[in-house]
Amino acid sequence: MKILVIGGSGLIGKKVVNNLRSQGHEVLVGSPSTGVNFLTGEGLAEAMVGTDVVVDVANSPSFEDGPVMEFFETAGLNLAAAEQVAGVEHHVALSVVGTERLLTSGYFRAKMVQETLIKASKIPYTIVRATQFFEFIGSIAQSATEGQTVRLPHTLFQPIVSDDVAACVADVAVQAPLNDTIEVAGPEAIHLDDMVRRYLDSVGDSHQVVTDPSARYFGIDVNDQSLMPKENPRIGQTHFKQWATSNAKL
Ligand SMILES: NC(=O)c1ccc[n+]([C@@H]2O[C@H](COP(=O)([O-])OP(=O)(O)OC[C@H]3O[C@@H](n4cnc5c(N)ncnc54)[C@H](OP(=O)(O)O)[C@@H]3O)[C@@H](O)[C@H]2O)c1
Repeated sequence: MKILVIGGSGLIGKKVVNNLRSQGHEVLVGSPSTGVNFLTGEGLAEAMVGTDVVVDVANSPSFEDGPVMEFFETAGLNLAAAEQVAGVEHHVALSVVGTERLLTSGYFRAKMVQETLIKASKIPYTIVRATQFFEFIGSIAQSATEGQTVRLPHTLFQPIVSDDVAACVADVAVQAPLNDTIEVAGPEAIHLDDMVRRYLDSVGDSHQVVTDPSARYFGIDVNDQSLMPKENPRIGQTHFKQWATSNAKL
């Protein structure tokens, strides 16, 4: 099977590429650093030739409202057009659990547009929605930091390690399209403030996490349902403790 991984040089992308190559598939990395740009169209048609499956795990370099919307909208339109010309049989995309509940954020409005364009295109698809990556917890902490204090709500979420997300995406890519959305989450639900405390502790960071019911998640009002998967998500096997321990040894 020939598989084009758009964003194949990113955090998830590299792992998806390795996973699919180790299964013996022909895998092409499609990202600006390898001469494939889905915004300008550079290298896109050439990369699509003979491709059976496109996996899109790209992300916008800017999370500001205007640029991020332009990124996912242009990407969605360009990818669908190029895939149709090439006769691609399956489009797999990575999105975020709870996207429709987080639309006060420009980033999630853009992810919603990405999903809508995929569903409206003629290409059979599977959307994988993942919860927050363990690797992203540092950015959550940073976004909520003022001075020595990290102010976060006591909100449930169910984070997952990027390896388990990549394994799920790679698995989906070699199966028949579902024309549906599936979810993948980590093995344990935990409160955001508690998780960030554990994370900061694991990296020896002395910032103090303060639980504040009025604090927001990247400017978004969240409750215990906002970031959580629905019933029966796929579950990654790696616990935070295992990841934090192996990270500390690096
Ligand atoms: N962070 C989380 O907790 C979380 C949770 C659930 C889902 N997600 C989703 O996971 C996906 C992947 O995130 P990530 O953290 O792995 O991303 P990342 O490490 O930031 O990688 C982004 C990738 O996108 C590529 N890219 C950027 N502009 C491009 C363009 N114009 N054309 C083609 N490729 C382009 C980059 O290529 P270069 O290397 O060449 O620049 C890079 O390979 C995102 O869609 C995100 O919404 C994230």
